[in-house]
Amino acid sequence: MVPEADAQKLKDAAASMPSITMSAKQVCDLEMIGIGAFSPLEGFVGPDDFTSICTNMRLSNGTPWPIPITLAVDDATKDALAEGKQAALHHPDGTLMAVIDVTSIYAHDKKLEIPNVFGTEDEAHPGVKAVVDEGDWLVGGPVHVITTEADSGDAERFESHRLPPAKTREAFDKLGWSRVAAFQTRNPIHRAHEYLCKCAQEICDGLLVHPLVGETKPGDIPADVRMKCYETIIEHYFVDERTMLSVMPAAMRYAGPREAILHALIRQNYGASHFIVGRDHAGVGDYYGTYDAQLIFDQFTRDEIMVEPLKFEHAAWSNRAQGMVSAKTFPKIQGDQIFLSGTKVREMLARGERPPGEFSRPEVADVLIEWAVNAAAPA
Ligand code: ADX
Repeated sequence: MVPEADAQKLKDAAASMPSITMSAKQVCDLEMIGIGAFSPLEGFVGPDDFTSICTNMRLSNGTPWPIPITLAVDDATKDALAEGKQAALHHPDGTLMAVIDVTSIYAHDKKLEIPNVFGTEDEAHPGVKAVVDEGDWLVGGPVHVITTEADSGDAERFESHRLPPAKTREAFDKLGWSRVAAFQTRNPIHRAHEYLCKCAQEICDGLLVHPLVGETKPGDIPADVRMKCYETIIEHYFVDERTMLSVMPAAMRYAGPREAILHALIRQNYGASHFIVGRDHAGVGDYYGTYDAQLIFDQFTRDEIMVEPLKFEHAAWSNRAQGMVSAKTFPKIQGDQIFLSGTKVREMLARGERPPGEFSRPEVADVLIEWAVNAAAPA
């Protein structure tokens, strides 16, 4: 982040620089770099790191990094740029957000990135489609971030919950939490999520509920509705002194295992010591095996990724056990668990019906019903 005293000078200089208008995903990435959540990255990756990340899941210096953070641009934008010069980075609404020192301009090797990062080239995969649609050139170099907030405002900024990594680390120190479990989520919180969080709380000092609120695919539940769900469940079912809610402004890639590594490294930056990885973490459709996002951690040593993955089996309510169980904890699990598909739950909510209490807390269901009924109503 540019110190406030230097911002005006940089803004003046930016007026005569070539301009890049960023996509929603790039705006999220810029904020993640600026606030230190993508540390050690100080900018968008250059060609050596790009190749090394795609092929080895590491930066060219060997540091673990699973997904290239790229600034893709189209032909016309690229033609106005030059290596060794600077460029102004604008939000789609025109806000000047940052300046990049352009250290490299190189062809976007989508044939290398897509199969390596996503394990598929199927354009029905939302992460693959996003890369396919991006520009054919990549611009690498460190960024000087002037602001992370666009002039047009953003209804979903959650300012009071938007703590950068340095602030969450400071807060954990103040609270005396040395063992902190972070919980990544992009969905409304259901009973299995709650179970994972509570198990983690039993063995840690505190829990960081850390929902992703950056760019998600159409069809995912809006971040403001999800935030209401998290606030509601914490109010009714969690111990305030042991639970912290804060947002994580990254864009979702749906890259399953590789994204689990990215999510863990991000939470390491935020000061977590443990990171929850359940079934099909960051997955979409059936592109990934149920536990691939857990197995991938075996490819790194504990010196490389210091945050400890807390790996959870598929959990659900069992009537016979009268509680949340998994195949690890209950022998007669077969056919006894309550599973509801996302589509079925959506249909119930849109009809104003609460899903069973074994699936969702009623207070959370009511938040979702309010949203779903309005969303289903004709305009
Ligand atoms: S994700 O894209 O952020 O992974 P989601 O918000 O659904 O999606 O999941 C948050 C975390 O909870 C992930 O670690 C996921 O693996 C885990 N999870 C979700 N549902 C279950 C479940 N029924 N059993 C075990 N883990 C689960």
